[in-house]
Amino acid sequence: MDKDSKQADDGVKRADYATQKGEVILRKHEYDGIQEYDQKLPNWWLVALWASIAAFLIYYTVYYTFNMVPSFADSMDAKVEAVQETRKKALAETLANLDDSTLVNEWSTDAKIVAAGSEIYASQCVACHGADYKANGGITGRALDDGIWEHGSKPMDVFKIINDGTPEGSPGLNNMKMEAWGKTKLSAKQVAEVTAFLISINPKDFAEYKK
Ligand code: HEC
Repeated sequence: MDKDSKQADDGVKRADYATQKGEVILRKHEYDGIQEYDQKLPNWWLVALWASIAAFLIYYTVYYTFNMVPSFADSMDAKVEAVQETRKKALAETLANLDDSTLVNEWSTDAKIVAAGSEIYASQCVACHGADYKANGGITGRALDDGIWEHGSKPMDVFKIINDGTPEGSPGLNNMKMEAWGKTKLSAKQVAEVTAFLISINPKDFAEYKK
């Protein structure tokens, strides 16, 4: 658009567009012989324009400004949380009712649980109890494959010594005590897993609990 045609436009008020059907109003500028109609946009188009702007404002206010409708992500989060809550409750219940039979018949026979227990053993216990479970000849801990369970030979006794550590007042082994893993580095679930692992490598010791 050159300067002259701009000039020519200046006298035109925006309300000068065609208002009658069939009426043609040309804007005053011209470029290379090309001129422009000055028509009012059809009502259906204007309605669509203003309605979509209004819809956007309402949508934005409802969803983003006031968070009145939970978003899809929010409702998914809530669902996932509910599932996790249910599972957590189920686990807490299982652990609360954990007993000799459950440890032997359910936990120690579940390959996934035993594998998890084995991993915990390899990362947390192996330094003292050894990869061969002999605790470096009984110097750094108690052997875990000798059929002797100094702190009780029931599955829950094994769980307890790992979870609670050497009982208060007990001398331990050459003054070395077992850490209360359940209070420090492991969850109750992990203690049960590593217990299940120990049961699985000593099937004879716990055969009497087998159903
Ligand atoms: C820092 C060394 C150390 C680490 C690490 C360690 N223990 Fe021990 N553990 C000991 C000692 C020492 C004893 C003997 C404690 C006692 O008699 O009071 C023991 C005893 C035990 C007993 C009892 C054995 C019995 O004869 O009754 C079990 C079961 C056991 N540990 C399992 C574990 C598991 C599972 C882990 C890993 C989560 C672990 N320990 C990590 C040193 C260790």
